[in-house]
Order: sequence, then structure tokens, then C-alpha cells
Amino acid sequence: MTLPLGPDGTEGGSSSGGSVYGLRGEGSPELFQVYEPSEGAELAPARESSVGTIGAEEVLKVEDLTVGFPTDDGLVRAVRGVSYTLHEREVLGIVGESGSGKSVSSMAVMGLLPKSARITGNISFRGRNILSMSRQEQRSLRGRKIAMIFQDPMTAMNPVYTIGFQLAEAVLSHEVMPKKAALARAEEMLNLVGIPQPKARLNSYPHEFSGGMRQRAMIAMAVINNPDVIIADEPTTALDVTVQAQILEKLIEVKDAFNAAIVLITHDLGVVAGMAHRTLVMYAGRPVELGTTEDVFYHPRMPYTAGLLGSIPSAGDTGRLRPITGAPPSLINLPTGCPFSPRCPLATDLCRTDEPELRPTDAIDHSAACHHWEQLAAAPDATAFFRTESEARR
Ligand SMILES: Nc1ncnc2c1ncn2[C@@H]1O[C@H](COP(=O)(O)OP(=O)(O)O)[C@@H](O)[C@H]1O
Ligand code: SF4
Ligand SMILES: [Mg+2]
Repeated sequence: MTLPLGPDGTEGGSSSGGSVYGLRGEGSPELFQVYEPSEGAELAPARESSVGTIGAEEVLKVEDLTVGFPTDDGLVRAVRGVSYTLHEREVLGIVGESGSGKSVSSMAVMGLLPKSARITGNISFRGRNILSMSRQEQRSLRGRKIAMIFQDPMTAMNPVYTIGFQLAEAVLSHEVMPKKAALARAEEMLNLVGIPQPKARLNSYPHEFSGGMRQRAMIAMAVINNPDVIIADEPTTALDVTVQAQILEKLIEVKDAFNAAIVLITHDLGVVAGMAHRTLVMYAGRPVELGTTEDVFYHPRMPYTAGLLGSIPSAGDTGRLRPITGAPPSLINLPTGCPFSPRCPLATDLCRTDEPELRPTDAIDHSAACHHWEQLAAAPDATAFFRTESEARR
């Protein structure tokens, strides 16, 4: 259920070999396949029993964020107008092919972009604009109130220090307390994320942990300062499918324990299907669809989303995928009009001249950037637009 590789060939390649899972019911979680695209199949949308309820208050608000990178070949327009709000305890899924601007937009929130990046827009945390805060205020917010989980925990961990030392440092960089107390908190966190013998494991080095264990330690490090927001960027992409499910389950458990909200970034639709309350789909640096996860999956209003859904193997298929043909556009030389038009079976002359804005569609809080979303609304199966004629006749 992974998306195709991006033009740079990175990411997306670690096939999960199947679906990723949500959690069903209460008590000990049972794994189940969340997306069955065959007709009448049940999608398991994010449920209260798995991801909890959303609070009313906004914690993070991103408004019209743009990020450009000047290069010798021209300006790479990596993020072109991303806006979203994240409410308390909410899980917002951000999905898109490799290179669509998912990581760059979250690095902007975390203040982790290189100095050369040109950033415009507003990013506010509980009503305060982060971009206009002093460096010191930003530092205290990031890592404490807003924490990040990376795809590769080794990016955030130092190989020469023990896990315990690094967890304790994460606490001590934001809070004054005896080192012993910080280590005790570190042990508590390792226990919370399901690392056996946490006290002994404080003395382990990152390379002594398996990939799954390292990702658990990364989650521990992210929540150790009780954040309000966790940004998880492809947190399970490098892991095998069983471990992925366990880590996602742990992430939700931990989020509930800390009442945190999550931005869950992934190229894997299955991950958001089971976990996110709302889903934002990105294409060529822009949000192209935003709605409840159920609306986006069951009633896509943007052909790109429909194409992604159609490229997931269905139970009745003989294993044949219906991928979206072509590749995402160059972010230096974007085509005029809708950036998806060269790949879109519904494209018209209007699409090739005017880039559509993200606008409301036929459902409350469901918006799409497409001139012809009504055509998808009128079709019994939106993914059928991506089948070849001979396949459609079968
Ligand atoms: N420092 C940089 N300089 C130039 N281009 C960059 C830089 N960082 C990212 N990009 C480009 O920005 C685009 C978006 O990248 P990214 O947000 O990492 O995509 P993804 O959706 O896969 O997370 C890509 O085309 C990437 O090559
Ligand atoms: S605007 Fe046109 S080209 Fe773009 S997704 Fe909609 S139909 Fe396709
Ligand atoms: Mg990325």
C-alpha cells in the first residue's frame, strides 16, 4: 500500500508488503486490515476507541506556509501554500508521494530548515506566532511543547551516548532537576513505550537496539517533556509490517497518555486510514484535499486522491495495480495550471491554464483543489477513472 517512488527515487520504496493496521475495540488491541478497496468493503475510519476524541481548542495553526530553496538550477518551490489547524488530541494525517513537501512543511514548524530556505506564512502555537518569537522562545517551545519523531531515529540520536543519557539530556535541556530524577523519568518513559528491562536499557547505546526498539526510544524521547504536539514523519516506514503496527499502536497509546495531538506524515494510505481523524493530501507542495479520513477515503473529491486509492491492490484483483501513470512535476519548473493535469484523466483546457484553489465540496469540512470535483462526486467509483478501458470492461 505504499505510494510510488518520487522523481528522486527516494522513499516510498520500503514496501510494507501489505496493509498497515488500525486498532479495533477496547482492551487488548486486535490488528486488522483497514482498507479493502473491493466494492462494499469496510474502511475502518479513525475511531474513538482507537485514537480518542478531538478537543475543541486549536494547538497548532499553519497558515499559507511557503518554503523555497534557492539552488543553482532555480528556486525549488517545495511548499506552496500549506494551511491546516490541529486541535487538542487530534491526529491529522498528511499523505502524499515522495517529494510533495510533507517533510519540508513540518521541518518549518520545527525550525529545522537550512538557513538558505525562504519561508513565508504563519505558524502559531496556541495562538502565538512561532516565526516571530525570539530564538530562545522558539527553542524552548520546540522539543518541549512540539516534539518530532523521525523516520530514522539515528537522525535524532547520538551514537556515542547511551539512550539513558540522551533521554535525561532531553529533559534537562528544558527543566532544572537533579540528574537522578531525569534518569528516573527516562526509565519511566522507556517502560511506557514497552521497552523491557528499562532500567538496564538506559545504559544501552542506540546501535544495541533493534529498529523497532530504537523507534520506541524515539517516541520516549519525543514525549518525555509532555508535549502538546507530536510531529511523526514517516515513523514506521523503515520497519517491517508487524513492527509498524506495534509502533503505531504505541504511538496512539502514548498520545492518549499525554493528551497530545499528532501530525502523522506518511506516504502510506493505510497508516492514516486506521489512525487519523482528518487527512490532508499533498501534491507538488500544496494541499489538494482535506477532510475527515472517512470522507477522503470513501468520497475522494480530487482525482489524485482517487488515483492513490485505486493503486491499492483490492481483494478481488488478480494482483494487478492501477497506478497513476507519469511522475510528479519538477518543483523548479511547475507546469501552468493544475500541477496534476499531465497525469489526470479528467484534465481539460481550464485545468491546463488555471491552478485550482482548495475549496469546499459537497460535504462539511471537506475541501478539494479540483475544477471538476463534481465529476468524482457523480461517479459510482471515483477510482475507475484511472483504469484503462479494457480493465474497466472486465
Ligand atoms: N535543502 C533543500 N534544498 C533544495 N531542495 C530541497 C531541500 N530540502 C528538500 N528539498 C526538496 O523539496 C521537495 C519536498 O521535499 P520533502 O518535503 O522532503 O518531500 P516529502 O513529501 O517526501 O517529505 C523535494 O523536491 C526535495 O528535493
Ligand atoms: S483540476 Fe483538472 S487536472 Fe487538476 S485534478 Fe482536477 S480535473 Fe484533474
Ligand atoms: Mg519526507
